[in-house]
Amino acid sequence: MPDKWDSSLYDDRHSFVWKSAGDLLELLDAKAGEEILDIGCGTGHLTAKIAESGAQVTGLDSSTSMIAQARQNFPKLKFLLADVRNFMLDEPCDAVFSNAALHWVQEAEAAVQCIGAALRPGGRFVMEMGGKGNVACIMAGVEEVIRGAGFSGQNVWYFPSIGEYTTLLEAHGFEVHLAQNFARWTKLEHPERGLREWLEMFGGSYFEGVPGPARGEIEHRIEERLRSSLWVDGQWHADYRRLRIVASKR
Ligand code: BEZ
Repeated sequence: MPDKWDSSLYDDRHSFVWKSAGDLLELLDAKAGEEILDIGCGTGHLTAKIAESGAQVTGLDSSTSMIAQARQNFPKLKFLLADVRNFMLDEPCDAVFSNAALHWVQEAEAAVQCIGAALRPGGRFVMEMGGKGNVACIMAGVEEVIRGAGFSGQNVWYFPSIGEYTTLLEAHGFEVHLAQNFARWTKLEHPERGLREWLEMFGGSYFEGVPGPARGEIEHRIEERLRSSLWVDGQWHADYRRLRIVASKR
């Protein structure tokens, strides 16, 4: 992940990212005494939820500001500044968990290899990320406006299909037990500024090359372009689709 994160904006306005992961935690089913790695832990809220089970959990993130905030939020928990594409644990763990992080990793094969190497045989991998079709509406609107204004910024996301990701997992020694791609229409937290704040938090790469003073006008045009589809009942929404997978290492 690029380290351009605003961990305060993340905690203040994007807490739906971890608040919506309750049933993913149920799928993880962490047990007391297990060693669990939380990949892309952000500010540590799900790491802390996993720790409530009595498991020994380590949060891993490649962003210094997210890890600093996680350590401040949960000083008793262990957090590791590392890149999912090239990390190694001293001892294999019982489970790897990841929520809303792996869509930032275009080198998915390197990540899957490291996750496999981190797990003991039989260890489980429980994850959710943006899946094929994720934020398709937002992407279409942003790209139309950005290109129309003469800029060429790109997104940096990876939203694989079930077939693509499960094939990758199977090629790297995993057995896949559950794979789903489902819509999760998500209300953004601030009533008027929700879409702008989402773009500021997550869409920075689209705005590369856009001079600061032009950005506000472009964001306004994006809002106007997307209002008919994403403004519902006085709130902005994101057209999320989740890819959810449970697998184990052979
Ligand atoms: C997601 O959680 O699906 C997501 C978040 C930020 C940018 C793109 C996707």
